[in-house]
Amino acid sequence: MRLLLLAATLLISLPVSVLAAEAPPRERLSFNEGWLFSRTDAEWVLGQLDYANAKPWLLASAADFFGPTSPQTARPRGNFGGGFTHVQADFDDRGWRPLTLPHDWGIEGPFKQEYPGDTGKLPWWGVAWYRKHFDLPATDAGRRIVLEIDGAMAHSLVWLNGQFVGGWPYGYSSYQLDLTPYIKPGQPNVLAIRLDNPTESSRWYPGSGLYRNVWLTKTNPVHVAPWGAIVTTPKVTAEAAQVSIQVLTDNDSATNAALSLSTELFALDDTGRKSAALGQPITVTIEPGRQASTTQTLRVPQPRLWSVTHPHRYVAVTSITQDGRLVDRLETPFGIRTAVFDADRGFRLNGEVVPIRGVCNHHDLGALGSAINLRALERQLEILRAMGCNAIRTSHNPPAPELLDLCDRMGFLVMDEAFDCWAKGKNRHDYHVQFPDWHEADLRALVRRDRNHPSVILWSIGNEVIEQWFADGQEGWKLAARLAGIVREEDRTRPVSAGFNGEISGYNGYQHVLDAIGYNYRIKEYARFREINPAIPLFGAETASALSSRGVYFFPISDDKIDPASRADFQVSSYDLYAAPWATPPDVEWRAADAVPGYAGEFVWTGFDYLGEPTPYNADLTNLLNFSDPAEKERQKQLLTELGRIPTPSRSSYFGIIDLAGFPKDRYYFYQARWRPDLPMAHLLPHWTWPERAGEITPIHAYTSGDEAELFLNGRSLGRKQRGPGEYRLRWDDVKYAPGEVKVVAYKQGAVWAEAVQRTAGPAARLKAKADRRELTADGRDLSFVTVRIEDADGVLAPRAENRVAFAVSGPAEIVATDNGDPTSFESFQSKERAAFNGLVLVVVRTQPGTTGPITLTATSPGLAPAEVSLTAK
Ligand code: GAL
Repeated sequence: MRLLLLAATLLISLPVSVLAAEAPPRERLSFNEGWLFSRTDAEWVLGQLDYANAKPWLLASAADFFGPTSPQTARPRGNFGGGFTHVQADFDDRGWRPLTLPHDWGIEGPFKQEYPGDTGKLPWWGVAWYRKHFDLPATDAGRRIVLEIDGAMAHSLVWLNGQFVGGWPYGYSSYQLDLTPYIKPGQPNVLAIRLDNPTESSRWYPGSGLYRNVWLTKTNPVHVAPWGAIVTTPKVTAEAAQVSIQVLTDNDSATNAALSLSTELFALDDTGRKSAALGQPITVTIEPGRQASTTQTLRVPQPRLWSVTHPHRYVAVTSITQDGRLVDRLETPFGIRTAVFDADRGFRLNGEVVPIRGVCNHHDLGALGSAINLRALERQLEILRAMGCNAIRTSHNPPAPELLDLCDRMGFLVMDEAFDCWAKGKNRHDYHVQFPDWHEADLRALVRRDRNHPSVILWSIGNEVIEQWFADGQEGWKLAARLAGIVREEDRTRPVSAGFNGEISGYNGYQHVLDAIGYNYRIKEYARFREINPAIPLFGAETASALSSRGVYFFPISDDKIDPASRADFQVSSYDLYAAPWATPPDVEWRAADAVPGYAGEFVWTGFDYLGEPTPYNADLTNLLNFSDPAEKERQKQLLTELGRIPTPSRSSYFGIIDLAGFPKDRYYFYQARWRPDLPMAHLLPHWTWPERAGEITPIHAYTSGDEAELFLNGRSLGRKQRGPGEYRLRWDDVKYAPGEVKVVAYKQGAVWAEAVQRTAGPAARLKAKADRRELTADGRDLSFVTVRIEDADGVLAPRAENRVAFAVSGPAEIVATDNGDPTSFESFQSKERAAFNGLVLVVVRTQPGTTGPITLTATSPGLAPAEVSLTAK
């Protein structure tokens, strides 16, 4: 997969042969290297660079993203911020810290108890500057040079050679700035970027910095406009697909451009590309300063359809020639598929019902913070895929573009989300402050960037926005209609939706302006919604919000989802019976969902644990909005207020099916049992090392894709149980603990199907290390995730071990992070040693750019036999 990915990346980003022996007509170069960083602000700033002053300049730099009824976007006269030291070309930045992007300064810590737990107890807010000195060849004179920033957190302002260029407030939007007027080919250039991340602007860890990739794109003055190739597939059958390619071409030259545009389609597969259709050239003449739109429809016979099991892709290669010279050549990957939501059958991909087995994920990558890393994202998807997950909701913001590339290639469906709030905020300084000015630009930027991805099946204009609670007459839906309208102007091929935790959103007008309704946690609403709105597609935009800490079990167990005894030590018991007050354990959700005809599937909150929002140890009163029953709201308020008095150390979530380090919790196997019914599997909980519980009731629960199972304790049967209707787990709640072995044998339709065993561990004796990948690319980005287990002498996991493990690496690599999945740990993620959490530790090793060779990672811990893994950088 890795090779395939690399090959595919090269296809997109590298220039291919050109007619003339000169620079390729379009180059897209990584601009991540060689930055300088400082947390000091320019002197005498005194608020002068604040958003209020920058606003007209920023709107001007985003002018292409506003329609005719939008704010004034003329660029003011002068040079915004031009007097400040940090923007000057000759400013002495030699003392600044050199680094390579992507970079998230917040993840560097330190954690502090007094920092808000909801945003991870990490210092992500404040001002920072990035500067980059670079040379541009003199031969670039006359070319159009564009800076592409996939995401900068937040309120970025960009100067080139002391001249203000532009910027973008929303930290999750990708944007592009035309550097051409300010750039000096053949001379040194200096880019300066100021970021300002406001406090109280997020409900989770937002990260900080230039945390996504940055690119420099060079084109001719005549070129395809940014995000200006739009591929749709208006008609798809087994015999043939119609593929329509609309190309927006800009003529930034001073003369008329008489052009010939042609597009060829290629099928992409592991071995390369095969021509699938060739269009007739279209000729067009564009006046200086104007844009032309041309559309061509090609026929692909016997198309290879994109699906979650066979994610076939195509690429449209558009060539523009002027006087026989190739002036631009753009590659646009796409897929051919039909994706339809309907109220009766749910979601259909290429005509077949595909239940959405999705998860919501935040954008942080655990110990790596929000700094985007392709391999870290790919690993997340691999772990999710093995569970049977087929969909991702990018909660609650535009994702890194790489996530969508991976979803296209690996076959994941995506609900692509824009906002967590609209004009009414959830935090003092969150997006609601920018919403009036920026919602249009942010929405258009999202849809234009992402509309060619076959993985994207749904646009979401918001999550649990406060406006959802407006009664019909209050016209909250009018705002939804406006936002949906903006999306539809940019893409008519996908439904527009949103995530609602207000039951009334199914009845107060929203249901008529959106194409599909996604409920968050409103299981009691499903049946009523279906009855009142028989023609409107319905799915679970957020489900479960179950809580657990990996490997933690408290006794006695209780079926009360907010049983205080299930919570102690700032951990939550992993019996998968516990949930946030507004939420449900997985089985309760499934019972409701399975009773609703046409329910399209769910996005579980969440796939992976994330930094921040450590419910139930966060006392987050904002979530009280989830309660419409006043008595229940009062009860919750009291619970939360009491919690709020405890100084909780928790800094990351308990919602994940998989912990922050990427280790599956028990719940992983619960979802696997449901989502991969054909995979013979069984899983038992809890672990079976309870020396202090001899003779005590220690319930055993089993998850299996079978329909029946028999449990054995030290060879003695404790009974065979069948899953009845509406039952998803098998329970033996009166087992008395005795050390030894528990085994479950699962059956399907009477035949043995799968087995699972838990054995009592002896004293911790040794470390065992396993790398997820041993052959790495020597590019300074590739990662190996190495799991270290603490085992007894026989190789049984010591399930409660907390031994400290130290790591060292030799060869061309470095240790970039360690983690153990404990949501309460304040240890630095960059630490080279870490205590195990319930027997497991993770260490992340990164290659160095350009240096190949063997790498050895060693793990040591006093009193335990050490472990070693060998890796290679190629
Ligand atoms: C939802 C919200 C999510 C997250 C979740 C926790 O209401 O949309 O962002 O806060 O609750 O259960």
